[in-house]
Amino acid sequence: MGFRRMGCHDLLWIVRLFFLMQLVHVVFSWGKHGHYAVCKIAEGYLTKDATATVKELLPDYANGELASVCSWPDDIKWYYRWYWTSPLHYVDTPSFKCNYNYGRDCYDSSGRRNNCVTGAIFNYTKQLFSAYQGYNPNLKSHYMADVHQPLHVGFTGDLGGSILKVRWYRKKTNLHHVWDTLIIDTAVKTFYGSDLSTMVRAIQRNITDAWSSDISSWNYCRHHKRVCPNQYAAESVRLHVTLRIRMLNQEAS
Ligand SMILES: *[C@@H]1O[C@H](CO)[C@@H](O)[C@H](O)[C@H]1NC(C)=O
Ligand SMILES: *[C@@H]1O[C@H](CO)[C@@H](O)[C@H](O)[C@H]1NC(C)=O
Repeated sequence: MGFRRMGCHDLLWIVRLFFLMQLVHVVFSWGKHGHYAVCKIAEGYLTKDATATVKELLPDYANGELASVCSWPDDIKWYYRWYWTSPLHYVDTPSFKCNYNYGRDCYDSSGRRNNCVTGAIFNYTKQLFSAYQGYNPNLKSHYMADVHQPLHVGFTGDLGGSILKVRWYRKKTNLHHVWDTLIIDTAVKTFYGSDLSTMVRAIQRNITDAWSSDISSWNYCRHHKRVCPNQYAAESVRLHVTLRIRMLNQEAS
């Protein structure tokens, strides 16, 4: 379909789009709002031809908007037919090892290799370049956001932070939920008049302005690779460790 008409230049742009998706990971994390915002910002960096191709690949109900279907992989992962996708949202690293290693860490609970978030990103990048007919652009977009989430790349024993009980203001919850959903929801409500698009615009302004000198480092992929999820996962596990140390210090004090 679309890919036959695409030049290498457009493919490169799609790949850059996915690099750029990591831009916003500093600000918030990836519940429904997070996935929407990440994809909305990324869509703004597509060329005209790449936009047309993405539109062609999207289902009708997306109304041509990639962002509107970016949280779909979260909605479906509990359905039997899609159950196989649930390990693709994260990668667990050995507890208190404080680092990430693809060969060591990327497998699911049944021991199947490559079944983790970084494996999925490699997989869907390969499909993008092989013009695979069933290519589904929102899967890769979703996993690119997840791999930047420090509670999606962390100690096996933490179960993604879901067993770490914390308080968010007056609410009892767990650390995973705070990062996936509550931080961004609270920010949207408190600083942006409950309007996600206002927040998205504020981030877009930062990308062209306050953060513009960081962009080259965000784009940097070692050995001129097309995609470098291992790099992102290594960053996320470092953030995970920072969060864990803070929690331990708080418990101790
Ligand atoms: C790679 O993609 C294929 C086709 O969508 C899928 O069957 C397979 O499970 C995927 N593997 C990973 C690790 O994402
Ligand atoms: C924009 O960047 C500034 C400086 O880094 C930061 O304080 C602010 O929170 C950023 N705004 C958004 C919406 O990320």
